[in-house]
Parts: sequence; C-alpha cells; structure tokens
Amino acid sequence: MNLQIETKCPTTWKFDYESDTPELDNLYELAKRDQWNVSVDIDWDQSMREDSDVFSRAETGIAQTEFFGKLSKSTQSDLLANMAGWTLSQFLHGEQGALLCCGQLVDSVPTIEGKLYAATQVMDEARHVEVFDRYLNKLDGKYPVAPALKKVLDAILAADTWQAKSVGMNILVESLAMGTFYNMMIQAEDPLLASIVRLTAQDEARHVNFGIISLAKEIPTMSEEDRAALEDFGLAAIGMLLGQGDEDGIDQSKPFTDAGIDPADLKDVLGPQIEQADMALLQGGSKQRSTVHEYMVPNLGKIGLLSDRIRPTYVKYGLIQEG
Ligand SMILES: [Fe+2]
Ligand SMILES: [Fe+2]
Repeated sequence: MNLQIETKCPTTWKFDYESDTPELDNLYELAKRDQWNVSVDIDWDQSMREDSDVFSRAETGIAQTEFFGKLSKSTQSDLLANMAGWTLSQFLHGEQGALLCCGQLVDSVPTIEGKLYAATQVMDEARHVEVFDRYLNKLDGKYPVAPALKKVLDAILAADTWQAKSVGMNILVESLAMGTFYNMMIQAEDPLLASIVRLTAQDEARHVNFGIISLAKEIPTMSEEDRAALEDFGLAAIGMLLGQGDEDGIDQSKPFTDAGIDPADLKDVLGPQIEQADMALLQGGSKQRSTVHEYMVPNLGKIGLLSDRIRPTYVKYGLIQEG
C-alpha cells in the first residue's frame, strides 16, 4: 500500500491578518470553546456491552432480513461484531485521512481566518483518531482500510488546489460522516460508543460548515473552467465513495466472509435483502436519515456545484431524484 502521497498544492503565506469572513471567525470561536479531551471527557471505565450488540438490532437493516434470521445465533453474533468493528475501523482510517488533509488546508487556504479555523480542525481530527483507536482496542475488532476509501482519501490528499481538498473532505467525506454519526446516535446500544459518537458528531458539524462557508464564498469568484473542474472532482469523489460510474465503491464484504458467509450468497441473496431492509428503515420505522440525499448532495448544492451541466449525471446515478 502506498503510504506517501504527493501534492502540488501550494503552501501560501498571508500577511494581512484582518479577517473578512465573520462566519468563519464565529466558527473558530466555537471550535476553541468546544474542544474536548478523550482522556478526560469520556468515561472509559463505564461498562461496555458484553455481547456483540454494539448497535441496536432493531435499527440495523441486516438484522431484519430473512437470511439473517436463518443463521445460527453464534454466526449472527459474529457477523454483527465484525460489522461493528469493520465500520468503526473505516471511521478510524477516515479520521486519519481527515487529519492529514486538514494539515494541508492550514498550508493552502489563502485567508488568515481559514488557516486559523483549519488549525482547530487538525486538533479535532487528532482527537477523533485517538478516540476511535482507543474504542476499537477495547472492542478488539480492528480492520484494515477499505481500498476504495483509501483511493478517495488519496485523491483528496493529492489534489492540487485547496478548493478540491475542501470539496472532497469537508463537503463529501465529512457530510457522509455526519449522516452516519447521526444514524449511529440512534443505533448505538453501547453507552460508551454513544458518548463518543455524540462528541465527534459535534465537531464534524463544524467541519462541514467550514467547507460550506469557505466554498460558497469562493466558488462564485472562480472562472467557469475552474468551477467545472471542481464540479467534476466532486462527482469523481462521490463516485469513488458510493460506487457510481466506473467505480466499484467500498467493498463491505470482509465482515461477512469472516463470519463464514458465502460471497455468492452475500451478492445474490443477502445483499439485496439488506438494501431493502435499510430502505424500509429509512422510510418507515426509524428516525435514521439518508446520508446521500440529506447530507452529501444537498451540501454540494449549497456551494453551487450542481450546475445544469452536471445535474443529469447525478440524476442518472440516482443521487438526485427528479420527478
Ligand atoms: Fe473527524
Ligand atoms: Fe472532520
């Protein structure tokens, strides 16, 4: 695996220390006020759930499927434990990607208010790496980074403009994280995990806001050509995350095969049943939200990256529903 990513994104000085984005000044104040400490503000001594039900079965699509119901109790438990470990591991690795990306944003954003704010996000992401690593060590369920997640994070780290990095990280990856954390707050059955997710989600909300405030101001000043290139980068990144266009998306099969489930059954039987069960949760009995339709795509719209030129592709991928 390639551990070194090169970027041509320039580091910029700013010798005018006057901010002209009051919304970012406010966000910087909130970020300083709301720092928390993984060692102090999380009660690590509280008891964790001893069984595999870190997440509530009633709020987990797979637990509603016919296929799951037919599995032995021990395979059910193994599978749920693997899925929790796998998902939280991807968050851990994603948090490290965010940490690296934010360091780049401190260097490359051209405004002083952007640099100061991004510095707070570096500390936030360090804390998130720490907290998920520590939780996963307790859970004893760490998995390697999924190749497609690594690919999109690498594309963001290699991007040669701060605008592309911010679209990739603050608007797409962090909107995905925000939506998932929101759902995890509903799903979490383990009180320790619930407290971690609640604190982390507060930080992520600021990170998404940073992207929206900075890019909604920047994008209208860009040339048509640069704006189109940024829009294309956003579409490519969302494609890598969700498996659209030529991209396969994030392979989620590892926790299943590790629990002894046949890959063919997963693809042909269980996969479609999970999709249906997840949809039923979103539409019916749960307060969970769609990360794509309620977070990622609307936030692209807020910064002006859903022009008439690119919209039809989002519609074709089913990411925008148009009647
Ligand atoms: Fe984070
Ligand atoms: Fe973040």
